[in-house]
Amino acid sequence: MGFLDEIYKDIILDHYKKPRNRGTAEDIAAEDVKVISQEGLNPSCGDELLLHLAIETSTEARLKDVRFSGEGCAISQASASMMTVALRGKSIDEALALSQHFKEMIQGKGINESLGELKMLQGISKLHARVKCATLAWVTLEQALLNQKR
Ligand code: FES
Repeated sequence: MGFLDEIYKDIILDHYKKPRNRGTAEDIAAEDVKVISQEGLNPSCGDELLLHLAIETSTEARLKDVRFSGEGCAISQASASMMTVALRGKSIDEALALSQHFKEMIQGKGINESLGELKMLQGISKLHARVKCATLAWVTLEQALLNQKR
């Protein structure tokens, strides 16, 4: 990952080696939440990711818990881990907006301040072959949220 600053690389590797919020739907304390699960696939390598969202059933409909499992490269796993941290407490609209900003950054279309720590992944925009790795968790998130809105 020579394209990333050393500091960023350390944080990304830390998320890869010690992923935050790795788990299944059973790991979610299911009080006053609706749990939705969504499979995601990176078609370029065949790696799969499973995402579980716990959405509050109150009128607020905020993401109370987010878990993920599945296998993939360091970038996909670090991106998923960082995403789960960033999403906690967000409303569905805020989560969709963050996802949009993240995809724009990875596609080299600008960096929104709301991305916070996720900005550490901006170097991936220079590695086109890894864009699908970095966005796998986010595309899966969007599918999950759009499905549950229906
Ligand atoms: Fe499969 Fe990155 S190589 S997700």
